[in-house]
Amino acid sequence: MVAAVRVHKAGGPDVLTYEDITVPPPGPGQIRVKQHAVGVNFVDVYFRNGLYPPPGGLPFVAGNEAAGEVAAVGSGVSDFKSGERVAYVQGPGCYTAERNVPADRVVKLPANISYEQAAAMMLKGLTAEYLLRRTFKVEKGMNVLMHAAAGGVGLILCQWANHLGANVIGTVGSKDKAEVARANGCHHTILYREEDFVARVKDITGRKLCDVVYDGIGKDTFPASLDCIRPLGMFVSFGSASGPIEAFNINLLQAKGSLFATRPTLNTYGAKRADLLSMAAELFAVVGSGAVKLPVIQKYPLRDAAKAHRDLESRATTGSLILIP
Ligand SMILES: NC(=O)c1ccc[n+]([C@@H]2O[C@H](COP(=O)([O-])OP(=O)(O)OC[C@H]3O[C@@H](n4cnc5c(N)ncnc54)[C@H](OP(=O)(O)O)[C@@H]3O)[C@@H](O)[C@H]2O)c1
Repeated sequence: MVAAVRVHKAGGPDVLTYEDITVPPPGPGQIRVKQHAVGVNFVDVYFRNGLYPPPGGLPFVAGNEAAGEVAAVGSGVSDFKSGERVAYVQGPGCYTAERNVPADRVVKLPANISYEQAAAMMLKGLTAEYLLRRTFKVEKGMNVLMHAAAGGVGLILCQWANHLGANVIGTVGSKDKAEVARANGCHHTILYREEDFVARVKDITGRKLCDVVYDGIGKDTFPASLDCIRPLGMFVSFGSASGPIEAFNINLLQAKGSLFATRPTLNTYGAKRADLLSMAAELFAVVGSGAVKLPVIQKYPLRDAAKAHRDLESRATTGSLILIP
């Protein structure tokens, strides 16, 4: 038996139940990972509260990313051996001390990346990689707007976009978060709960507006985000921390300047193993070089997963949260 946090019915943080589960030996093509650190992400909230249905139904083990060592390998697995340091995004199923994972979803960790760093950045950092390098290629001199700039994905996005030479504008929920964002690559911060962020973006960019807006907030920042984008620019809606964006008339994109809009997911961008490996290599390179740091890693014991969710949803956190089994 191993310790795990399961969801038996959709609901608030209290439905996260700490209990023992049985993990069978790894099946064909799987590896068993003894987990040292587990990432907490907003997508864990969507699965817990029922916004996203769990693929295998109820009950399910929560969580979508983790890092640890290979404890055993199933038949047909030749790329991994016991004791190797690994990390992966594969969910749900990660809030546990041990689990089986398809080997083709797992990457080996370089020696200079710790388990805690890996758990804090696999899902968020791979997301930042595809958002900045694949969905829209951010280049030197571009104006970019990141919402929730001091959040887990936000802090990685800001540092990486800064490293690419962009003028980074970030929205944040408090003055403390503004300081954190500015210390992590954000050139300009906007307190979007108090200030009109469209007016501030116009001001900051001299009315040129942004080449791209990265929006993980959803409901509360739509459609105002579109007014921050230059003609032919890109709206990237990659999350719904405030709730999903409601159906809208596509002619809105014409009215706002022939905009492009996309709703991407890491699952699609990382679906092919070759893409997953190249995304991870790029992520490990920017973290390894020090261009992207993971300055705020808030740790909780696995049994306190409900507290981690409460904190994340209350907008009290900055950077990444991890659970230690
Ligand atoms: N599509 C993908 O592939 C993908 C992958 C990873 C993450 N995501 C998305 O990226 C976003 C950020 O994820 P994260 O895990 O790094 O979380 P996070 O940014 O650390 O936390 C969410 C932040 O959103 C802001 N927020 C604004 N309105 C909110 C509300 N009503 N309730 C809660 N928070 C609100 C808060 O920052 P302020 O206080 O500064 O407003 C809060 O700290 C999420 O939408 C997530 O779903 C998408």
